[in-house]
Amino acid sequence: MVPLIRNKTHYFTPTPKKSSLLSLILSSTMSSSSDSDHLPLRQIPGSYGLPFFGPIIDRHNYFYHEGRDKFFASRISRHNSTVIRTNMPPGPFISSDPRVIALLDGASFPVLFDNNKVEKFNVLDGTFMPSTKFTGGFRVCAYLDTAEPNHKLIKDFFLRALARRKDSFLPLFRNCLRESFAEIEDQLCKNTEAGFNDVFSQASFNFMFRLFCDDKDPSQTNLASKVSVSPTQSITITKGPKLVDTWLLFQLAPLATLGLPKIFNYVEDILIRTLPFPACLTKSGYNTLYEAFRSHATTLLNEAEKLGLDRNEACHNVVFTAGFNAYGGLKNQFPVLLKWVGLAGDKLHADLASEVRRVVSAEGGVTLNALEKMPLVKSVVYEVMRIEPVVPYQYGRAREDMVVRSHDASFEVKKGEMLFGYQPFATKDPRIFEDAEVFVARRFVGEGEKMLKHVLWSNGKETEEASVSNKQCPGKNLVVLLCRLLLVDLFLRYDTFQFEFKQSGFGPSITIKSITKASTLF
Ligand code: HEM
Repeated sequence: MVPLIRNKTHYFTPTPKKSSLLSLILSSTMSSSSDSDHLPLRQIPGSYGLPFFGPIIDRHNYFYHEGRDKFFASRISRHNSTVIRTNMPPGPFISSDPRVIALLDGASFPVLFDNNKVEKFNVLDGTFMPSTKFTGGFRVCAYLDTAEPNHKLIKDFFLRALARRKDSFLPLFRNCLRESFAEIEDQLCKNTEAGFNDVFSQASFNFMFRLFCDDKDPSQTNLASKVSVSPTQSITITKGPKLVDTWLLFQLAPLATLGLPKIFNYVEDILIRTLPFPACLTKSGYNTLYEAFRSHATTLLNEAEKLGLDRNEACHNVVFTAGFNAYGGLKNQFPVLLKWVGLAGDKLHADLASEVRRVVSAEGGVTLNALEKMPLVKSVVYEVMRIEPVVPYQYGRAREDMVVRSHDASFEVKKGEMLFGYQPFATKDPRIFEDAEVFVARRFVGEGEKMLKHVLWSNGKETEEASVSNKQCPGKNLVVLLCRLLLVDLFLRYDTFQFEFKQSGFGPSITIKSITKASTLF
């Protein structure tokens, strides 16, 4: 838990000492920039260690001894290079080959977006893939390479599905926001604090379900769940988020740590990284989710069939996209957004409130046009995505022998070798961004917009668009819109808020301690 930062007069969040150190290491390992075509050829430094033992030692350092950032920073410093060889978790026995070439700067990282050079076959989760039994026996879109015809077909389906529903984004999400803020206020009244994550997880699930299922409320389907709110009163909510959480946990557990006290580290490691969890443990929950989408996503599944997709395969893809990609991303994105905006303090809150209220008043409401006229809101959202990308890892296998370039050297990569990019080191590269470790709310305002090509959270540049021939997130523009709307509705309602957060391997967990209702009208 961090102390609340109050009465700040500028927009910078003080950099934790650890991060400053990382920044120093990153910048000090590099000489001044040179012409990328004439970079000296260097062998990729680093070693995989002994078979079996090397990967185990690396994963213990990664999870338990050093932690994620220090793991990479110490290797950059040791090898004086931002392109290095290392093992990535989970390693034995879950992944058959944990060896990767890690790209740890903003110059080399974008090679992962070049689908002519890099194959994205079954690499969504890195060096292992959960059983297809988790997804009805199908390899769903996110696991398909761009060269596979099915990728084109399914990605096209999602791109069209979102385009068709674009007019619903704003009213539907604002409706979810209204319910969520009412719930936060209610909890604050009853308990003097409110759990942001749970409320916004419900909102994320409700939004995606209603978007894909003809506006059907999930609590009026087989996903309904009764919870008692007092000895005499109960309400109906949806158990959708809990079902997805369990299903995600069983697939992604080998990549996680619960952050337990040190004495449990080895037990945890053996329990979650020796054998994969069998899909049967989550089968009944998954079937409930599948049944909800099969019964209510009628229009969407008709659209899929018209494009030539098998209805059953389309439905498993819809469950995965709504549950894993969209809900899984949003339920982490919103707390990350709130954390950085909260840490930036009262002055930023006042400026956001002033911009939001002025524009909404001039435009006569919250419209897409109005959102476009809010440069500070836009910049804050991009800055959050830059400083803490929700999906920090990307993988891809070299399709051919190729050369990868960092700022200082070029490196030969052989066909079939696995490339791994650690995104926080790419988007916080001090050779690209000034004060890279610092949250600068206005970084992307005006001329700063030119730097958006270095914002990479969507598995592509912010200045590029998702298409059937790349692996960029098709929800990219939707996610940016939802984050802007969250800020707009937050600062239409409130002047400021106070909060606490706990950082874990799953992202920040936010507790709202108080809110100050809007003092000015718009
Ligand atoms: C904060 C929320 C989100 C984040 C952080 C996020 C991030 C990403 C990332 C990093 C990838 C690339 C994965 C890889 O291949 O390495 C991806 C792919 C994908 N995302 Fe998102 N996403 C989010 C929301 C959404 C939403 C709302 C949708 C759909 C409505 C969506 C649908 C997809 C799909 C279908 C893919 C696979 C693309 C392909 O195979 O070409 N995502 N997302």
